Parts: sequence; C-alpha cells; structure tokens
Amino acid sequence: MNTDIVRTFGVDLPIFAFSHCRDVVAAVTNAGGMGVLGAAWMTPAELEMSIDWLERHVGGKPFGVDLVFPGTAVDDEKSPEEYLKAIPQGHLSYVRKMLDDAGLADLAESDTTAYMTEVARHMAMTNRKSRDQFDICLAHPSVSFVVGALGVTPDWVVDQAHAKGVQVGALVGSARHAAKQRNAGVDVLIAQGTEAGGSVGSIASMVLWPQVVEAARGAPVLAAGGVSRGSQILAALATGCQGVWIGSLWLGTAESDLSIEMREKLFAAESEDAQIARVMTGKQGRMLRTKYVENWQKPDAPPLLQWPMQSILNGYSYKRAERARNLDYWTYAVGQVVGDMKGHSTVKGEIERLLNEYVEALEHLQRVTGFE
Ligand SMILES: Cc1cc2nc3c(=O)[nH]c(=O)nc-3n(C[C@H](O)[C@H](O)[C@H](O)COP(=O)(O)O)c2cc1C
Repeated sequence: MNTDIVRTFGVDLPIFAFSHCRDVVAAVTNAGGMGVLGAAWMTPAELEMSIDWLERHVGGKPFGVDLVFPGTAVDDEKSPEEYLKAIPQGHLSYVRKMLDDAGLADLAESDTTAYMTEVARHMAMTNRKSRDQFDICLAHPSVSFVVGALGVTPDWVVDQAHAKGVQVGALVGSARHAAKQRNAGVDVLIAQGTEAGGSVGSIASMVLWPQVVEAARGAPVLAAGGVSRGSQILAALATGCQGVWIGSLWLGTAESDLSIEMREKLFAAESEDAQIARVMTGKQGRMLRTKYVENWQKPDAPPLLQWPMQSILNGYSYKRAERARNLDYWTYAVGQVVGDMKGHSTVKGEIERLLNEYVEALEHLQRVTGFE
C-alpha cells in the first residue's frame, strides 16, 4: 500500500480517519495512518487546545484538521442568542411534546436555554471563525493537511496553506465538484459516496471513485463512503484511489467519545437503518434512523429549519434523550457500514483487522485471477 500519498505525508498506511474525537485521531496516527480532526464545530480556543493535546500524544507525527469554509453568504455578526431567537417557538413545542409523549423527563427552562446557547456557540459557522481556526492550524507545523468539508475551497486557504507547505483536501460527491476543487488548487480529493455518514450526495462510491480519479487530473484521490473492510481498501486502490478516508467505523471504538449505550445503539443497527434525511442539520445527510428522525418525517411535523437552527434545536432533544437514557430520541451521523459494526473494538484492533483482510483479499484476487 505504498502509494504516493503515503510518501507525501510521511505516514506508513494510506488510511485516513475522520473523527471529531481527538483520541481517535491520535490512535490512528500512532497506528501509522493519518488522523484528521473534525473541528468545524469547535471554537478556535478548543481547536488550539486539541491540537496542543494531539501534538503531545503523537510524538511528532503529522495529522490533519477538517474545517468548513462557509463562503461569502454568511452573517458574521450573529450571536448565539440571535440564533436561538430564530428558532420558532412552535418548533421547540413540537419537540417538547414529542419527548413528553414518550415519557422523557424535561430539562429545567434555564438548562434548556443555557444548553441551546452553548450548542449555538459551537454550531455558528462564520468566515471569521474559519479564518481563526485556519490560522491556528497553520501556526502548528504538525498540521500537514487541512480539509474543507463543504463548498469550493477559497483562494486564501489554498494560497496560505501552500505557502506553509500544508496540503489542502476537499470532500467531493461528484466529478463536477472534483473538477471545481482542482481548479481552486486543492491537492487531495476525497471522493465520498452516498453510503457515507454525514452530509452526502447521491452517487454511490463504486461509481464515484473512478469518476473522481479521472476528474482529478493526476491529483491523489482518497476513497470515502462505505469502507469498513480490507477488501474495500483493495477495491479503492483498484479504482485508482491512493488510499481510503474512513469516518463511521471509528464511532464503535473504545477511543470514540460516544457513550457505551450510544455505541451499542449503533451495533444493533443494520445498513438500511443508516438513512438519508435532513433532520440533523437541515441539509441532506445520512444518519441513524430512530423515532426522532421518523417523527420529523410525519406529515404533521413543522418544516425543517435551516442550518444551523435545526442542529441547535436537536441539541435540546439529544440532551433530554441522553439524560433519560432513551436513545430512540437521539440520532447520529453514520454510514451504511453501521451494519458491519457489531461490537466493541479499538482503533488499533480495527486497523490490524483492515490490514489482515486487505492481505487476504489480495491473495484471493491472485488465486482467482491466476495473476502473481
Ligand atoms: C459522525 C460523523 C460526522 C461527520 N462530520 C463531518 C464533518 O464535520 N466534516 C466532514 O468533512 N465530514 C464529516 N463526516 C464525513 C466523513 O468525513 C467521511 O467522509 C465519511 O464518514 C466516510 O464514509 P463512512 O462514514 O462510510 O466511513 C462525518 C461522518 C460521520 C460518521
């Protein structure tokens, strides 16, 4: 698996791991892959602390940070309180009644406001915040990869990253987006199929990966969406990708910051339970189907709010669900590989399994094709 991208980043394995959880990022990096910290919802101060922590835990190895660059149409001045005011009372009442009917204890009014304000403080995504986060990344030489999750990467990101020798990546869900990101100067494309957890497009990985490889015009492509087995890594390399980018699989590991109950809720799910909906953010994404998601899809449900108001509103129900230990009224971004995630594991254990399966798949391929 000694692909060019392994040499570019000076890692041992072309296994890239997206996670919001710094323990997962450190564990993947220490196992020879490259952890990429999902930091879009962190305040700049939290990002700085997480990078400092990672630097103390990865012994000089490189790692990445994933941000959102929102573009020009974003109101830089809105306070968390203003976001809260933009959530109609009817929407809050709808969620409150849904949880009351299910018998989940309510939060105190003051806790509700305090908690939702806190969620709003994290969810607010402004250009100013992205710039501050980006500056923090560039000030730390161990951050050798900055990835943009949504939209075409702005010039200032590419120019400033390149001036510091930092590689720029972008998630894409179609060959058209891949071409746009290449024109914007992005170095590494992450071709994310619709099987993935989180914000997704509609093209499946098996179709998308080779299309993005073609559109990349020689730039390295990482295969994302639906990777949880070593044989799929082999398939990704066969389509011309240089490595894989995995997100959902790490949610089931001991290093994940999900509670044991949340992890077990995922282990009980099958692939078809990872459903596309707009409930989590107001934008299309793949998430675990629960009663919460189903209720929002009923005809009497109010129209979903725009991002980030829908996410802030969900913060209220998740807190109630968590306190009541009733995860039917919680949901989480997860991909179709959830059907393969059946028990507790560790990051190191998962990487060893992926490598063993990769070798088995390679040997199988040699046997069935007779090609040595
Ligand atoms: C819980 C979760 C949250 C995610 N959040 C983000 C995000 O904030 N930014 C981003 O670029 N990708 C995000 N993703 C998508 C991942 O980067 C990755 O592309 C995807 O998980 C790969 O497919 P898989 O889930 O089948 O492994 C998220 C994925 C999951 C599972």
